[in-house]
Amino acid sequence: MEIVPDIKRAVERIRSAEKITVISHIDADGIASASIMLQAIKRECIPVVSVFVRQLEPLTIQHIPHDNSLKLFTDLGSGQQNLLEQARIPPEQVLILDHHIAQDPPNGTRYFQVNAQQYGEDYKKCSAAGICYLVALNMNPNNYDLAKLSIVGNVGDMMARESCRLVGIVHWIAEDAERKGVLTARTCLNCYGLSTRALHLCLSNCDDPVIPGISGNPQAAVSLLCKMGIYADEHDNRTFEDLIPNEVKTLSSQITEQMIANGEDTERLFSEQYFFPDEIEHTPLRNASEYATMLNACGRWAIPYIGAAVCAGDRGANYHEAEHMLRHHKSIIRELCEYILETGVTEHSAIQSIHTGNKYPDTIVGIGAGLALSKLNRDKPILILSEVSDEPEIIKVSMRTNEMAVRRGVNLQEALCSAASIFGGEGGGHNIAAGAYIPKGCEDDFIRKVNELIEAQLTAHTEKC
Ligand code: C5P
Ligand code: C5P
Repeated sequence: MEIVPDIKRAVERIRSAEKITVISHIDADGIASASIMLQAIKRECIPVVSVFVRQLEPLTIQHIPHDNSLKLFTDLGSGQQNLLEQARIPPEQVLILDHHIAQDPPNGTRYFQVNAQQYGEDYKKCSAAGICYLVALNMNPNNYDLAKLSIVGNVGDMMARESCRLVGIVHWIAEDAERKGVLTARTCLNCYGLSTRALHLCLSNCDDPVIPGISGNPQAAVSLLCKMGIYADEHDNRTFEDLIPNEVKTLSSQITEQMIANGEDTERLFSEQYFFPDEIEHTPLRNASEYATMLNACGRWAIPYIGAAVCAGDRGANYHEAEHMLRHHKSIIRELCEYILETGVTEHSAIQSIHTGNKYPDTIVGIGAGLALSKLNRDKPILILSEVSDEPEIIKVSMRTNEMAVRRGVNLQEALCSAASIFGGEGGGHNIAAGAYIPKGCEDDFIRKVNELIEAQLTAHTEKC
């Protein structure tokens, strides 16, 4: 399939609409995607409204207006075409810009979608915000400023994780944006919090890779930074971004030496990070990864509109609300991660599972599971179950794994979709991260089935090799 004609067709569909409803997902990529499209559409003076849903499912589909507007689905839709068909939304009123694995609707309605997974290797690591940006750029080359949101969405969806940098078409978007002054790409230590966290905390929180003597030991990180003269004293709290190039160089070689001396692989020690020169230093909006966390904090805690307002440039009341949400989000995710590790997971032959009941919102358990996985048995995908506050009969399932497991044949989307359909639920997502909603009461049988399916995937892959 060719992307260029599909993008042009998408642009035509947008241009010919009298009004548009943008329906998007509540995570960083969903909010960034919606914001790109909302801004591009407003610049064309086409009336547009925005709807965010935690996922397209029978309850949330009711939020889609029954009118003649063009329904523009971003970061969702491809996997839920059955619901669009069921809701009798005519295909000419639909445009899907997505990157989730597509599932055909049972009655064969053809919904037009530009889905990153259809266009070969260069688009494999392109999230919905990448596709939305390509559409926006085609609508008007002046939309190049929206590349910033595209990079935030991609980084939020972990498109830079495997290679420690963005790749394929999204790397091209970043390079082009850098030429136009929208961002600066820098090689940094592969840590989180480069703009806002004191450097010793940034280093001691690093777990990909584990830095011997430093990871998990902030005091040792302070001592090292003082010894190197990067910290003036032990109360210093400079960030990575504050370092001058020479300091980055000395710190990098010191840590590399330390890794090598301990026989550790340094391959993942550095990553390309994306900074936004138009944002204020030391704020979470200054780099793509922290910006994405802020959007997740808004979306996953039911205020996606605040995140979208920040994306549209609001640095007043909405930004302050987002900052507050970010602090809250981080502290609850930390608590959830500790809860998973302290409670312990149940080990099955091919997966590990845990039920968090009603302790944490279903919208964040997947993030916690993803973080906890790096401290658990990395060979086994993690499955986390949670109650859904406004739907007592439903259980939310989230699964996370890593690239290594994917290379061994694991496909979480496939496993969750098949298992959910057996129990009357709905699933979707990617091979590496997926989710589902299932009816309450079948949890144990569901876990057993998923375990069986993953085991079968691994066996099939071994036999193929
Ligand atoms: O909406 P969906 O694509 O947007 O969500 C992606 C989720 O999958 C995010 O929570 C992200 O952290 C996770 N993910 C992951 N590893 C990847 C890609 C995505 O854990 N390589
Ligand atoms: O909710 P969670 O972060 O665990 O979702 C992981 C991935 O699975 C996301 O990409 C999400 O969009 C997708 N998902 C889905 N259908 C569901 C639940 C999650 O496509 N019912």
